[in-house]
Amino acid sequence: MIRRVSAAAVGAVLVGSLAACGSGGSSDASDDDSITMGFAQVGAESGWRTANTQSIKETAEEEGVTLKFSDAQQKQENQIKAIRSYIQQKVDVIAFSPVVETGWDTVLQEAKRAKIPVILTDRSVDSDDTSLYETFLGSDFVLEGEKAGDWLVENADDADTDKNGTINVVQLEGTTGAAPAIDRAEGFKEKIAADPRIEVTASQTGDFTRDGGKKVMESFLKSQPDIDVVYAHNDDMGLGAIEAIEAAGKKPGTDIKIITVDAVKDGMTALAEGKINFIVECNPLLGPQLMDLAEKVVAGEEVPERVVTEETTFDQEQAKAALPDRQY
Ligand code: AHR
Repeated sequence: MIRRVSAAAVGAVLVGSLAACGSGGSSDASDDDSITMGFAQVGAESGWRTANTQSIKETAEEEGVTLKFSDAQQKQENQIKAIRSYIQQKVDVIAFSPVVETGWDTVLQEAKRAKIPVILTDRSVDSDDTSLYETFLGSDFVLEGEKAGDWLVENADDADTDKNGTINVVQLEGTTGAAPAIDRAEGFKEKIAADPRIEVTASQTGDFTRDGGKKVMESFLKSQPDIDVVYAHNDDMGLGAIEAIEAAGKKPGTDIKIITVDAVKDGMTALAEGKINFIVECNPLLGPQLMDLAEKVVAGEEVPERVVTEETTFDQEQAKAALPDRQY
């Protein structure tokens, strides 16, 4: 069980601590000595998010952390409201996955003034003031985009499905302004520059949802005469694109190559079936590392500013091998 230490003990630890990067835990949400965490989740937009929420809830239960959980339905104002409510409730630690990168300084300053430490998880904020949070746990989204771009460059001949010497890519972007949408586009763009045949001919947000991916792909299929590749910023949008491609009488994975990010079970199943060509993994099982960081932060211990999750990639054969043991 993760236990909250008294304010006096935190003070003692902080005196000798080199970190002092923030507020230390001194609030008092409950009468017992367990940690209370306020968690402001993005929403329930994707299979990845469902797995992430489950990991956080299960680990909190296992570790005896009292979890106050809110679902912002992909709206920044809801997340800000949730964070303000956690501040009022004097939780020991606030964790959240910011739906978009900007616009957090005011509410994070409020948390800092209330001496409630904040942990960023999954997505980061774009702020010059890094003292507003203790640490950021999550993936390197630029690297994920780079891995997708590298694969396409390596498989460019095959990706030129109509063999006309151009490789036209349509991009299904994640939520506008979200770190994974910005960074996955950036990493991909950087890598595909190595092959002048590859061009992103259309790019639009599908909001990380299956329905969004399907609708955007339907419109791309009408407006773009020669699509060779779909690059979707997550599996769900890729799965929506598959539905649209099949409805248009084309074969996903063959007539149009598909690259996605996440590697959730549904995505891996489509990859193993040949409907997706390559998936870059993004690990949603952040619960254990998050609770460990929360314990340290509340105890006033030093934590790294950045904790990057380890991830791999899957082609179709690797998906077949990995699927039986896939947890999510
Ligand atoms: O922030 C992680 C991203 O958010 C996942 O890749 C996507 O599926 C989710 O909605």
